[in-house]
Amino acid sequence: MRERIELVDDFAAAWQNAGCPVVFTGAGMSTESGLPDFRSARGLWKRRPESLATLDALQRIPAEFYFFYQWRIARLWAAAPNAGHEALAALADAGLVRRLITQNVDGLHQRAGSEATELHGTLRTVSCLRCGAAYDSRRLLPAAPGWEEAYQAGRYLPGRECACPACGGSLRPDVVLFGEALPPAAWDEAVNASKAADLFVVVGSSLAVGPANLCPEFALAGGARLAIINQEATSLDGRAAWVFRDKAAGVLTAVRERIFPPGVEDKA
Ligand code: APR
Repeated sequence: MRERIELVDDFAAAWQNAGCPVVFTGAGMSTESGLPDFRSARGLWKRRPESLATLDALQRIPAEFYFFYQWRIARLWAAAPNAGHEALAALADAGLVRRLITQNVDGLHQRAGSEATELHGTLRTVSCLRCGAAYDSRRLLPAAPGWEEAYQAGRYLPGRECACPACGGSLRPDVVLFGEALPPAAWDEAVNASKAADLFVVVGSSLAVGPANLCPEFALAGGARLAIINQEATSLDGRAAWVFRDKAAGVLTAVRERIFPPGVEDKA
């Protein structure tokens, strides 16, 4: 226990004195808000094939595709930022997060008050494949209750909610589907910030998916020190100055409280 306290103290001091701290988050940031991640034991890709997150799936198996995203959208809007999101927002308010790069599409960083570079798009909006019109993703939710039970009973079919109200085209979530390019502006922002970082903090990511997982590599190549806060091992643990095999919210809150002891205003 004493070792962990010293590790947090050392990491918090390094963060407070960093010239360019950059944070990189993944789905493990939001599991404490009730949203599943992808590759841990209870992750989404343990229950469904990754191939569902493709345009091909939308065309070939629309019922599976639309239910998968309707299920995630319903939970996304019902979720709230957790203490980890709030700790990062407080650190950012004090100028201690130069850039927050996220692979997450849930918008919880933004709802906690952080600006975030969204590498994999967002599930907060959907767009029409035909005319490009964009809508709040809650539009994709079936109006009638009981759609999840209908799916479990094999009676689910995508309804009018999956069609563009303007032109009737198919609606798609504004996430980066497998096989699609990352948004160029977001990617450029993330690469530049990673190369400029002197402290790069990975939170809640398996680092399994490229090209996003190149960001910590760019940071290391630029001479940054790496911290990894993740409940499972990652391929970069051996190159990290700090590894916390722990829950994101707890570690980030501990760092926040080292830098801003409770009762002292959150200003560096
Ligand atoms: N605290 C710390 N780590 C956690 C927590 C938590 N509360 N909950 C889960 N984790 C860890 C898991 O152990 C796992 O190693 O977070 C990691 C999440 O990894 P993934 O599920 O692979 O999610 P992510 O790295 O964000 O995936 C990247 O893959 O499918 C695509 O587009 C999707 O953006 C996603 C990308």
